[in-house]
Amino acid sequence: MPSKPTYIVLLGPPASGKGTQAARLCEELELPHIASGDLFRENFKHETELGAKAKAYIDRGALVPDDITIAMVMKRLGRPDCAQGAILDGFPRTIPQAKALDTALAEQGFRVSITPYIAVPDEVIIERVSGRRVCRTCGETYHVKYYPPQEAGLCDQDGGELYQRDDDKPETVRERLKVYWEQTSPLIDYYRKQSTLVEIDGNQPIDAVTKDLRAVFGA
Ligand code: AP5
Ligand code: MG
Ligand code: ZN
Repeated sequence: MPSKPTYIVLLGPPASGKGTQAARLCEELELPHIASGDLFRENFKHETELGAKAKAYIDRGALVPDDITIAMVMKRLGRPDCAQGAILDGFPRTIPQAKALDTALAEQGFRVSITPYIAVPDEVIIERVSGRRVCRTCGETYHVKYYPPQEAGLCDQDGGELYQRDDDKPETVRERLKVYWEQTSPLIDYYRKQSTLVEIDGNQPIDAVTKDLRAVFGA
């Protein structure tokens, strides 16, 4: 009998390393990496109506409304590459989003398998964000100090130009953190009650965090 799909939900504040870790683990776990923030940024790039709607919220550090976000992520989860599950990064981010995901999975007889919570103190986040650089072509994430590209300003994979996200300005990051503590951190308890929560120390070097996550997945 085929095994049930694996749905991993990565929890953690902005810049805790969700995207960095998911990009490393998706290949070995053979699961697609689905990041709601990346889906919104794809929409900006292609100048879609959804992108235009979302940008106003994202640029001020607010969350995009639940109905728009849930519809976008559920559509992505319905694609064939998600037949064995997915690594979700940045979704769910509110209790209604978590409930919508649970309901959609339950309808198919599935559930969230595990929710690693990558914990990082607020003061570390500000420094991580200020040094983050992202490839315009492939979305690979770098850090000027902690994960520099071989050649400054250029992506190692494809030579694409590295840029700073519009929402990585210090004042926007402070707002994102506030929103995280108000609207997203209740998910820690939500998943603790479902017995899927595993806390990971995100305040250590990137490789050490990967090692701890691998141990959780038995990878
Ligand atoms: P999103 O893109 O999801 O942003 P975020 O959650 O704020 O998370 P980040 O992408 O900033 O951080 P990350 O944890 O992926 O860290 P990374 O690996 O890059 O969302 C953006 C916006 O979209 C939201 O603000 C909201 O408006 C909207 N949105 C998205 N999803 C939504 C939803 N579900 N509902 C409503 N709205 C939604 O790492 C950060 C930096 O640190 C990098 O430079 C990296 O190289 C470096 N780094 C990583 N790990 C380490 C380490 N261990 N040590 C040192 N440096 C490290
Ligand atoms: Mg990210
Ligand atoms: Zn690239």
